[in-house]
Amino acid sequence: MVEILKELERRRAGARAGGGEKRVAAQHAKGKLTARERIEVLLDEGSFEEFDTFVTHRTTDFDMAEQKFPGDGVVTGWGTINGRQVYVFSQDFTVLGGSVSETHGAKICKIMDMALQNGAPVIGLNDSGGARIQEGVGSLAAYGEVFQRNIAASAVIPQISVIMGPCAGGAVYSPAMTDFIFMVKDSSYMFVTGPDVVKTVTNEVVTAEELGGASTHTRRSSVADGAFENDVEALSEIRRLVDFLPLSNRDIPPVRPFYDDPNRVEESLDSLIPKNANTPYDMKELILKIADEGDFYEIQEDYAKNIITGFIRLEGSTVGVVANQPMVLAGVLDIDSSRKAARFVRFCDAFGIPILTLVDVPGFLPGTSQEYGGVIKHGAKLLFAYGEATVPKVTVITRKAYGGAYDVMASKHLGADINYAWPTAEIAVMGAKGAVEILYRSDLGDADRIGDRTRDYETNFANPFKAAERGFIDEVIQPRSTRRRVARAFAALRRKRKALPWKKHDNLPL
Ligand code: HXC
Repeated sequence: MVEILKELERRRAGARAGGGEKRVAAQHAKGKLTARERIEVLLDEGSFEEFDTFVTHRTTDFDMAEQKFPGDGVVTGWGTINGRQVYVFSQDFTVLGGSVSETHGAKICKIMDMALQNGAPVIGLNDSGGARIQEGVGSLAAYGEVFQRNIAASAVIPQISVIMGPCAGGAVYSPAMTDFIFMVKDSSYMFVTGPDVVKTVTNEVVTAEELGGASTHTRRSSVADGAFENDVEALSEIRRLVDFLPLSNRDIPPVRPFYDDPNRVEESLDSLIPKNANTPYDMKELILKIADEGDFYEIQEDYAKNIITGFIRLEGSTVGVVANQPMVLAGVLDIDSSRKAARFVRFCDAFGIPILTLVDVPGFLPGTSQEYGGVIKHGAKLLFAYGEATVPKVTVITRKAYGGAYDVMASKHLGADINYAWPTAEIAVMGAKGAVEILYRSDLGDADRIGDRTRDYETNFANPFKAAERGFIDEVIQPRSTRRRVARAFAALRRKRKALPWKKHDNLPL
């Protein structure tokens, strides 16, 4: 018996060795942790249950029979994050570059199936050279099986991808179908074809970092939702994110203990809005003052900064926040901000996370670049997402809510449950200057008359009361009491149920 136990230990040690000391040292030299070290940082201590430790590939071509590593380049299993179950796969770059073989793919599929059946998130730690070249179509088939499961799991369990090394070829498409993608700065890359192929086909000379590094994907392409300095920071932040999310669409989002008075009054908010309607202010200040303990987990912080998306808690419960940011492009809606916010709204709705919308929006951005880029269709994504969302929706208009953007930003007409406005709100078809110039074109040469008309418009229309008279605004509230009003609104909506007509699925304007 002792010998048998020793044999088990010997085999386990073989699996833990990955691709061997030299390759592990090379991994560390790049500032990267190994697949197993990453799991240790991600999960609660001692909680990891590994599966398929001894799985090996079955290929014999290219002398592969001589190159077998227990586990076949991916560590899979489940564990807990702050006591809540998650499934994990962590690719081991030290074994054949973490490349995906038939058996490697099958290991990932096994835990995805378990996660889907048992209702727990899947976190993929990606560090792989893509399809294992020696296995040819077998490895492509393995990817296809993973893709199919990404699709089945979409909106059923949260799927989170962390890119912690190269991610090339079709390998980027599995992460692309997950809910969130995070990257590690300077050590992770995502591209469909690498710099060498780009040079051959298009004659462009570009570095891997420029083509698919963290900065490219968080600032330009919006493929990634965030980037972190190193492996440890990335994994710690994933733990923080998981704390905001429900385990599946069958669960409610977690409720955490909170030590922040829901009735907290923030007098400073009474002077947040500047006197001049064109002077910007930082909407993040409002978000932080509403949130429990000022804790805000921002999604896509570096992309389309004219809209802010992320998670807060109110009375311990997760709330998704969408907010126009007057500091950037005056908070205007455009192609990028509409797409960013639409995807976030749909994530929240799929997982039963209530949505708080903070509005200060002058409208949609005009111009040829927007029209040629299809702002009509992209703007419609946000409109569609809000109108379709059946989770509790609470809206606060702080200042401008003009034109179509008023409708889009979780207005009453799109099924928002409770719509508040600050006394500083201006809810109208457009701002005073634009309106007067259209309505009184013949007076344009007369500065005094135009001045009078503008003041008239501001007094009569640039306020929240016209909308409040119609019941489109439920109440005009004091800025200082926003946290209390919003927390009570969501508390009143906890048992909200709303059904949409039966359909196979919607036809969102993609
Ligand atoms: C088999 C691979 C491999 C792969 C890397 N290795 N990629 N083995 N299949 N796809 C092996 C290398 O042979 C090497 O083995 C070890 O991993 C480390 O690789 P290096 O090249 O030494 O590392 P590095 O210099 O850091 O470069 C990493 C890399 C590069 C950028 C990932 O290896 C690379 O470009 N690999 C190929 C990427 C690729 O084109 N993949 C196919 C994409 S198509 P030794 O034994 O020397 O340590 C695809 C289709 C998916 O994925 C289909 C879905 C539709």
